Amino acid sequence: MRFVNAYLGNGADTIDALTKVFAGDRGKLRYFAEQVRHVNDQVRGIVTALFPRYRFLNDSITWRMTETVNENLHVDVYNDDLPDHHLRLFVNLDVVPRIWHTSHRLDYLLAHRLCLLDREFVRTATPGRICHQLNFSTFGGFEQAGRDGYPRHIAFFEPGEVWLVDSRKVSHQIFYGRKALSTEFAVDPATMQDPSLHYFAIVEHHRARLLGKGAGSDSACSAVN
Ligand SMILES: [Fe+2]
Repeated sequence: MRFVNAYLGNGADTIDALTKVFAGDRGKLRYFAEQVRHVNDQVRGIVTALFPRYRFLNDSITWRMTETVNENLHVDVYNDDLPDHHLRLFVNLDVVPRIWHTSHRLDYLLAHRLCLLDREFVRTATPGRICHQLNFSTFGGFEQAGRDGYPRHIAFFEPGEVWLVDSRKVSHQIFYGRKALSTEFAVDPATMQDPSLHYFAIVEHHRARLLGKGAGSDSACSAVN
């Protein structure tokens, strides 16, 4: 957005794009920036219309122009434990399908895989760190991309197609994609229809369940895939 807002400026980003991408044609650059702003406004309008109860705290709209190939399966985690509810909308901007795999939801992973984690870690870690560790203990990280052994849905998002997902709560793997719009809307959790579905609440529910069981509860980890 910084680029879009400053497209008529003389900053380094603007000059770089003007010369390398638009061959010095300031009119083309202006038109491109206007289209970006127009699409961003449409996205905000769609989200607001679909979720009128939500109070949005901020948003991030990223025009992702790089190719993505065969990520590892994961739920999204961030460096900080973000206390907001999370709404994400994606648009395939390319002329070829964007291919996603999705697998178990966070609730299922916590129910069946939290037992893999060290008990003291489960007792003391923040919800975000638990989800982070759950990713690696369950799916094996990037080295296991495509070899994690978990069942998948395969989604082919056609050019122009729009989809929404809470990527903190649905495990996913971008199998292949080129240009896409990737958005994140932070929502006031107090405006959720069911706050027990906030990821903090889901983690805390399973933390209490596991720690309440005590020793000998590891058998729940053994058979589920
Ligand atoms: Fe992700």
